[in-house]
Amino acid sequence: MLADDLAATEALLKARATSPVAVIPDLSGYIVSAGGKRLRPILTLAAANAVGKANPGSHALATAVEFIHTATLLHDDVVDESDLRRGKQAAKNVWGNSASILVGDFLFARAFTLMVETDSLEVLGILSEASSVIAEGEVRQLAAAGRKDLPTEEYLAIIEAKTAALFEAAARAGALSGGPEGAKHADALAAYGKNLGLAFQIIDDALDYGGTTSVIGKAVGDDFREGKTTLPVIIARRRGSSEDQAFWDRALDIEQQTDNDLSHAIHLIRSTGAAEATLAEADAYAELAKTALKSLPQSEWTKALSDLADFCVSRAH
Ligand code: IPE
Ligand code: IPE
Ligand code: MG
Ligand code: MG
Repeated sequence: MLADDLAATEALLKARATSPVAVIPDLSGYIVSAGGKRLRPILTLAAANAVGKANPGSHALATAVEFIHTATLLHDDVVDESDLRRGKQAAKNVWGNSASILVGDFLFARAFTLMVETDSLEVLGILSEASSVIAEGEVRQLAAAGRKDLPTEEYLAIIEAKTAALFEAAARAGALSGGPEGAKHADALAAYGKNLGLAFQIIDDALDYGGTTSVIGKAVGDDFREGKTTLPVIIARRRGSSEDQAFWDRALDIEQQTDNDLSHAIHLIRSTGAAEATLAEADAYAELAKTALKSLPQSEWTKALSDLADFCVSRAH
């Protein structure tokens, strides 16, 4: 359904990452061609089609959204000291931290050039606001590191900022680009995107304890090794015995963590039912996303968006 729109976007992802400075196309080509699910550009394009028709402006926005996402991944793997991304060595392991950060900055800036080319100040405002919210989310998460009793509300606020904000903006921008009916449905599609983003990040956090490297293309246990408190941990800790709580307090202090701790953490997340409860929370957000679609004119596109919400949560079931 989206084949032509996605092909146009892929072509732009290639064409707009060019630069006479060879490291830029080399490094960005490496991460962009490593794959990735292209969820955010799919959101932009499908939202445009749900309210009208995706067009060259939508393609530019879809490309900008994926560039913003790619920039955050390049920065994130440096911050998180992660070695694997999209099933390959993280770019920072090939070109180094400095090049990864700087090429991330280049892609961020290129995203803004693409947005300006669409001639919509409204869309520029939406995506620039989302970009600052993502950065806030990442910093907020940094500040939460090592907090043993992170409240669920703070966890949710962090993932809303670092992940859901871009899903929301991708959908809203797509809707506005799709034609004159777009403005009428932009709030509904933004609500869909935000809830999908929350569901998606919760599933990603569940997979960090329950997935396999070959499926997620990232090292299992990265969050744990970083001492990051995510929803499976919050629930397992709350449901655990005092001995379990002492385990979490020690093991999430990266100075005190030992090699065997990850397998015990996975065991506790399963045995306390935290794994299931985490998936149930993601399901609830996916349902909210689908509910938001109800006010739209029903079409094959609303059906595809609804299926996309199911796909995002099914990755962990
Ligand atoms: C990874 O996002 C970052 C998170 C928000 C969890 P994706 O899982 O969408 O990454 P790619 O683009 O498919 O590699
Ligand atoms: C991804 O966050 C980066 C942003 C959402 C900005 P994570 O650190 O949680 O995701 P992965 O697991 O590395 O993909
Ligand atoms: Mg991170
Ligand atoms: Mg990370």
